[in-house]
Amino acid sequence: MTDDIQRARELLDHATAVAVLTGAGISAESGIPTFRDALTGLWARFRPEELATPEAFEANPKLVWDWYAWRREAVANAVPNAGHWALAAIERQCRDHQVDFTLVTQNVDGLHRAAGSQRVVELHGNIRRVKCFDHGHAVDRWEASEQVPTCPRCGSLLRPDVVWFGESLPSDALAAALAAARTCDFFLCVGTSTVVEPAASLPFLALQCGARVIELNPVPTPLTPHATVSLRGTAAQLLPALSRQGQ
Ligand code: OAD
Repeated sequence: MTDDIQRARELLDHATAVAVLTGAGISAESGIPTFRDALTGLWARFRPEELATPEAFEANPKLVWDWYAWRREAVANAVPNAGHWALAAIERQCRDHQVDFTLVTQNVDGLHRAAGSQRVVELHGNIRRVKCFDHGHAVDRWEASEQVPTCPRCGSLLRPDVVWFGESLPSDALAAALAAARTCDFFLCVGTSTVVEPAASLPFLALQCGARVIELNPVPTPLTPHATVSLRGTAAQLLPALSRQGQ
């Protein structure tokens, strides 16, 4: 075990309230492409910021629907990796020791719950759900076809139930994330480029409120110079050691 992992483990062992923020990087080893590292194949010529907006959907609903259909398929075929399992194990350890635990994720893939995490705050929605564009009616089933499907209640086009650039985050999820960042004394930030607000501010809020902030990422990010400990590597490699599963 490296000194950095050892140090992070000691801080975790002494924590009284733990908050975790995850981004696309934790699901990379489950085969789900991250946003900024890899848009491959068919989608390599698009930037997510150009597809994940209400304006993009209004301008070209078919293009945006198809991009999400491609991501939904990747998610449907994915299973949690060792990083997801390790975070679920850390939550169980916290619960056993009456340590408060909240997992905040920017991911829309549902893999944390699939791995057994229970206290999960989904900041950006969930790609497995669909709602209508005009009124937000939740829709359970739709026919796959060449056209973008429509809402059985109002006839407007269906879209994924995820947060797009320029849209507000679900207020209860944001409130829970802010509360966790303010009240924790150990904040773990895994696999996020920390560039998309407001999630990117959560580790900085935790730092301001006195928490130790541990970053895990294969490459440096804007958070790195401020982090108490920087763990350099992948989630599936390093999180099992942090959770004691790696011993
Ligand atoms: P990004 O794609 O911006 O960043 C992924 C991060 O994961 C990068 O910093 C990588 O270095 C890191 N990474 C890659 N492989 C990893 C691995 N195996 N283990 C750990 N880390 C790894 O994704 P996010 O930061 O999640 O928002 O992006 C934030 C938001 O921007 C997304 O939720 C999405 C996107 O546009 C919306 O759609 C609203």
